[in-house]
Amino acid sequence: MCFQLRNVLVLLLLPAWALGRATAPDLDEDCELNAVDTMHDFCCDLHDESHQFSDCQVKWHEKIAYETDEEEQTYMFCTAECSFNNTEFLGKDRRSLVLHQVKEQLEMDLVNDADIELLYQTYIKCDKHALDLLPHKGVKKLARRLSKHGCHPYPGLVLECVANEMILHCPPKQFHQTAQCEATRNHLRQCMQYLKYKT
Ligand SMILES: *[C@@H]1O[C@H](CO)[C@@H](O)[C@H](O)[C@H]1NC(C)=O
Repeated sequence: MCFQLRNVLVLLLLPAWALGRATAPDLDEDCELNAVDTMHDFCCDLHDESHQFSDCQVKWHEKIAYETDEEEQTYMFCTAECSFNNTEFLGKDRRSLVLHQVKEQLEMDLVNDADIELLYQTYIKCDKHALDLLPHKGVKKLARRLSKHGCHPYPGLVLECVANEMILHCPPKQFHQTAQCEATRNHLRQCMQYLKYKT
């Protein structure tokens, strides 16, 4: 009886301990970049998975059969550029947004004017943010990996930023309350706090 109770306790506590360890913050200046999952974590109704994005996931999955986190990141960034190519969001220089194209797409996807505006402003903010990140050491390393596949980091930086913003600032009723989305949001909050107080 006593042993059974102990076993039950171990079974209950072990996952919590493991989860705590798995999500223990590993923070550095690229903590937002290295949250590999956020790009395909669609946690807010306002920013849903597009068919262009899904098509590109399938296409790039065939090209990059990833096994490591690094390879997965390469795969995600190529998927992002592929998606921005298909939606015609990406400027010819591959490091700018075609804003009228973004606006048109948002007007097709969303009904509420305030939602359209929120997301549109997020794209504008994330374009600047992505350009700021390009000279970072970690991003340059990533860029070298991507170039082997003919991909550029800018679109992925924008998409990741948009995904992060939509996870952090989603209107509460539209946030997907899944364990994965909650965990990602907690990680991002810690990362943002870290970046805020770093300097
Ligand atoms: C996106 O389009 C550009 C310009 O045509 C091309 O160079 C690049 O390889 C494309 N990226 C992907 C991931 O398909």
